[in-house]
Amino acid sequence: MRQRPIPGSSGLLRTMSLLGDPVLHTACEPVVEFGPVLDRLIEDMFATMYGAQGVGLAANQIGVGLQVFVYDCPDDEDVRHLGHIVNPRLVEVGGEEIRGPEGCLSLPGLEAPTVRHDRAVVEGVDAAGEPVRVVATGFFARCLQHECDHLAGAVYADRVTGLSARRLRRAIARAPWAGSVPSARA
Ligand code: NI
Repeated sequence: MRQRPIPGSSGLLRTMSLLGDPVLHTACEPVVEFGPVLDRLIEDMFATMYGAQGVGLAANQIGVGLQVFVYDCPDDEDVRHLGHIVNPRLVEVGGEEIRGPEGCLSLPGLEAPTVRHDRAVVEGVDAAGEPVRVVATGFFARCLQHECDHLAGAVYADRVTGLSARRLRRAIARAPWAGSVPSARA
């Protein structure tokens, strides 16, 4: 029996798009072509996510405006969830609304309290075009909502309110990477 290769093991580390880069603030397009180019993108996304020690990554975070995200994320019971979803739709949210700390690889070094639902259901397809449905709770549900936001052209900072929003804005202005946005790569 052949073992499945570890996701990302043949992927390339790609440059992370940072807050202010237009690709992060634009809704992504649906994937219409399935095949080696998509497979390669997903591999690169896993490699880049692992390289940055993230738990989720959306395609526009590496500059590709397509509706794909990858994740390797624990839930609140420490169960690991690993996968990718192409053309995801957040079809259901429920449970309590929980204000918890959230960060993003596109705003490195920062986090802020962000309200998310405790339960989320995402439907889409996999790299082969086969339907997938992912039911998530706790931190994993937070991750899925965060990644769906990315594909809609939003970041968690857009959801932070009140004093936390002011604090986050100041922290962004002081961040070492702030001078690089909007990106010179655009
Ligand atoms: Ni993010």
